Amino acid sequence: MDIRRGHAAWTQVEADWLVIPVSEPVEISGQLGQLDQAFGGVVARLKEAGDLTGKLASTVPLRGVSGIAALRVLFVGLGKADELTAGRLDKALITAARAISDKKETRAAFAVPEASVGAITPPEFAAAAAAAVQIGSLGQDIFRAERNRFPFASVTIASPTGKPVDLDPAIARGRIVGQAINLTRDLVNRPAQEITPIGFAKRAEAVAADCGLRCEVFDQPRLEQERMRSMLAVAQGSPQPPRMVIVEHGGGGPSAPRLALVGKGVTFDSGGLSLKPTDGMLTMKCDMAGAATVLGAMSAIARLKLPVNVVGYMGLVENMTGGAAYKLGDILTARNGVTIEVLNTDAEGRLVLADVLSYAVDAGADRIVDLATLTGACVVALGEDVSGAFTNNQAWCDSVLAAAKTAGEDMWQLPMWELYDELIKGDVGDIKNTGGRWGGAITAARFLQRFVAEKPWVHLDIAGPAFASSNKPHREGGATGYGVKSLIELARNFR
Ligand code: BES
Ligand code: MN
Ligand code: ZN
Repeated sequence: MDIRRGHAAWTQVEADWLVIPVSEPVEISGQLGQLDQAFGGVVARLKEAGDLTGKLASTVPLRGVSGIAALRVLFVGLGKADELTAGRLDKALITAARAISDKKETRAAFAVPEASVGAITPPEFAAAAAAAVQIGSLGQDIFRAERNRFPFASVTIASPTGKPVDLDPAIARGRIVGQAINLTRDLVNRPAQEITPIGFAKRAEAVAADCGLRCEVFDQPRLEQERMRSMLAVAQGSPQPPRMVIVEHGGGGPSAPRLALVGKGVTFDSGGLSLKPTDGMLTMKCDMAGAATVLGAMSAIARLKLPVNVVGYMGLVENMTGGAAYKLGDILTARNGVTIEVLNTDAEGRLVLADVLSYAVDAGADRIVDLATLTGACVVALGEDVSGAFTNNQAWCDSVLAAAKTAGEDMWQLPMWELYDELIKGDVGDIKNTGGRWGGAITAARFLQRFVAEKPWVHLDIAGPAFASSNKPHREGGATGYGVKSLIELARNFR
């Protein structure tokens, strides 16, 4: 998408749609004052009539206006200036981008405020807009003849005149972030028939070549050689062979610490022999969202050339019910020697992550974050929009939570008390792969902790926010790209 900065006053910006942000209460001065004059006082009248309030993510379209260069105007509310955060700004700008991307070949322009709005500076605003135009103009309807949304023909990020703030680096960064989020969404939205472990690995290789990431793909014999038998057990029931993808960005040099990002990549989760009912299985193409989030973030980390060392690990399997499928009661010996008793083949994500986490530790990870659509229990606990965070190291978790806050993604820490270990203690093997119904998100996390040695580690259960069941004005249904921004932010601050 062609995204560039414009210099003109808001009244002079040429576009099919000019998006103008207004905060609450609406103040008609500066560029907005000039616009009001050009319109003969229409903006003030809208405000008086109570139509233009500036409430967060509210939109007021004006079609076929005269007196300015743009054909149409969309006012979008930012809410109260002192309450504006990255998350609220994204919500407003993506709402606007979604509202004006319903036609082909639209030339969009987004006006950047003349000064900071609350804590958000003009460059931050420009970066958010450059991301939003891409996120908001891509739908999940990728196979429909008649699409609901269309990419913009061009985008102008219209910076205020007379203020020589250089927005180009911010726009470049926002463009990369938006592309990364859309890459993750695309991978998750594509059906499991296409995104098999091999299909995913092929996409990862192409992305890596494009972004300048080192990429390695482990096939089944290599995974056997690496003793990743817990992960391999899950793959047994499918004719699709498993893969592990490793992508590496070495921006920090040999002596700098290594951040490992680990993603659950179950390309379809039928539940295995502990088969899911139709309703629960319906959206299980999304069960590779952790891996897709890692790949999306890695693509941005490489393209931003961040001065850090980051390695992404993606464990890719399909969980099916074939004749060779792993069974209840099976005992699996994981890469690190821990024996696992299989009580439920639908608790497969932790079996995949167990070996991939062990591998990351053995490969020299200094700090680890894993992302997984791991448990329905986490969705019950926190709802659909919030991920659960679990850790063995509070300082590291605080860094991850801080990155999420800056990124505007909601994340909430849950406890990791030892008392939960009782629930997953094995009768025949060391541990069981489920701890029963109660505290299911936490027992899953306690299970994973057995595979990270003592490395600082944060587990993010993204079962809720990774995939949305319905459209909202501020986001398309289907894959959301949740987590990509937080990981990029984390890498930006990694020392
Ligand atoms: N992939 C699912 C978790 C999930 C649920 C992701 C809803 C996205 C939305 C996971 O593999 C699973 O099936 N978990 C089980 C664990 C149970 C068997 C211990 C669950 O949550 O029911
Ligand atoms: Mn499952
Ligand atoms: Zn799963």
